[in-house]
Amino acid sequence: MIRPFQGMVPRLGARVFVPDNALVLGDVTLGDDVSIWFNCVLRGDVNWIRIGARTNIQDACCLHVTNAKWPLLIEAEVSLAHNVMLHGCTLRRGALVGMSTTIMDGAEIGEGCLVAAGSLVREGFQAPPHTLVAGWPATVKRDLTPDQRALTESVWQRYVRYKEAYFQDGWPVAEAPEFAGARPGFAEGHPFP
Ligand SMILES: CC(C)(COP(=O)(O)OP(=O)(O)OC[C@H]1O[C@@H](n2cnc3c(N)ncnc32)[C@H](O)[C@@H]1OP(=O)(O)O)[C@@H](O)C(=O)NCCC(=O)NCCS
Repeated sequence: MIRPFQGMVPRLGARVFVPDNALVLGDVTLGDDVSIWFNCVLRGDVNWIRIGARTNIQDACCLHVTNAKWPLLIEAEVSLAHNVMLHGCTLRRGALVGMSTTIMDGAEIGEGCLVAAGSLVREGFQAPPHTLVAGWPATVKRDLTPDQRALTESVWQRYVRYKEAYFQDGWPVAEAPEFAGARPGFAEGHPFP
């Protein structure tokens, strides 16, 4: 389901996958070949959410933002495994976030990082590029091994293929809804609710 909020309509690139039971609402931008999987919520109602090309947001992820303070930026080729909770944070290109991890406001996960399953990343935490981040709360454990680097690069590529298989099976390519009187997003001056 792709819905406007206060005149702000989600913006979608080409070949994007959003099944009916996922919610994409408000000031959300999805780049080309992004896949949003079943039961995800991306709620861009009080700040903006930007998701780069070829990123996958796997089933039951929950993405939200903080009013006037923390938008959510996910760069290209990022993978969020099942049941990840992101709030007002930044994920750089090629990062992989393991299942059931939570990342809080102001945290930044560097390029190509692997965040282990079940981790809690505290507010404002900074993860250097290509490191393994793990624990509750999470700490930087070490630089990624070659196998872990290969894992982070392989998951987003697989998910681009998976959503193409769904299109071949008859699932529709997502389209932004028609909306008369669309308004700019938060970054362009939309008033905060
Ligand atoms: C991180 C992961 C890859 C394990 O990697 P690994 O090479 O076996 O890690 P190691 O055993 O060398 O552990 C390194 C450190 O991280 C810790 N660690 C590893 N996985 C952890 C986890 N899930 N939670 C907490 N700590 C973890 C280890 O205890 C160890 O800590 P220490 O150095 O203080 O003893 C794995 O736990 C994981 O989370 N994989 C992602 C799974 C997933 O979500 N898959 C879906 C992808 S679509």
